[in-house]
Amino acid sequence: MARTFFVGGNFKMNGSLESVKQIIDNLNKADLPSNVEVVIAPPAPYLGLAVATNKQKTVSVGAQNVFDKASGAYTGEISPDQVKDLGGKWTLTGHSERRTIIKESDEFIASKTKFALDQGLSVILCIGETLEERKANVTLDVCARQLDAVSKIVSDWTNIVVAYEPVWAIGTGLAATPEDAQETHKGIRAHLAKSIGQDQAEKVRILYGGSVNGKNAPEFKDKADVDGFLVGGASLKPEFIDIIKSRL
Ligand code: G3H
Repeated sequence: MARTFFVGGNFKMNGSLESVKQIIDNLNKADLPSNVEVVIAPPAPYLGLAVATNKQKTVSVGAQNVFDKASGAYTGEISPDQVKDLGGKWTLTGHSERRTIIKESDEFIASKTKFALDQGLSVILCIGETLEERKANVTLDVCARQLDAVSKIVSDWTNIVVAYEPVWAIGTGLAATPEDAQETHKGIRAHLAKSIGQDQAEKVRILYGGSVNGKNAPEFKDKADVDGFLVGGASLKPEFIDIIKSRL
C-alpha cells in the first residue's frame, strides 16, 4: 500500500531565534515536493516562531516532548494544548534521549502518547535498541516492548508515526545499513500486525532515524518498509532539503 513519505526534523536542544529563523527561511525558499510530509520540531521556546514563519503547506511544526496532563502544578512541563495553542500539530514521544537521559519509562511514554493523541496532536513515537541490546540480539524484543506499552492503551494508530532509531546510530555518523533498517522495520510492522491488526499496521509509517544525511538518504529509496526519516543533526543544515527530496 502507498504510504506518504515522511521526513521529520528534530532540532533537539539546538538553535537560537536567529538560527531557527534561518532554517525555516531555507525551507521556505526550497522547491519542496508536494507528496512528502515534513514535520520540524524546534525547541519549545521557538515553536511559535516556527509556526509564524513557515510558509510551506507540506511542512508542519511539532514539539519534541509533551506532558500527560492538561495543566496544573507541573513545573517545566508543556501540555499538548499549549503546543496546539502555538499552532503545533505534532509531538515526538519516547525519543531515546528522553528514555536514557531523563529516564522516561515505557509506561510514561505510552501515557504521554495517549494523552497527546486524545488532545488532538499527532505523534512521532520513537523506539529503538541500545548497542548492548543489539549485541544481545534483542532488537525486535526491545522494539516490541516499547510498542506494546502504547498498543495496550491506544487502539487507534491513525495519528501515530513510528520512528525506529537505534540508539547506537544516533549522532554517531554510523547509520544502520538500508538492509538492516528494512529488516527491522519489517519486523516492527509484523509485530504491529499482531498487536493492532494487519490493516492498521500496513498504514503506519515507520521512519528510520540515526545519522541520516543528504548523502545516505537516497540509499534507503527501494526499502519497502522505510517510509521516511527522523533526522537530527542534518535537519539543522541545508542538506535537510536533500533528505526531503531523496525519494524524487
Ligand atoms: O531524532 C533524531 C535522531 O535522534 C537522529 O539524530 O540524525 O543526529 O543521528 P541524528
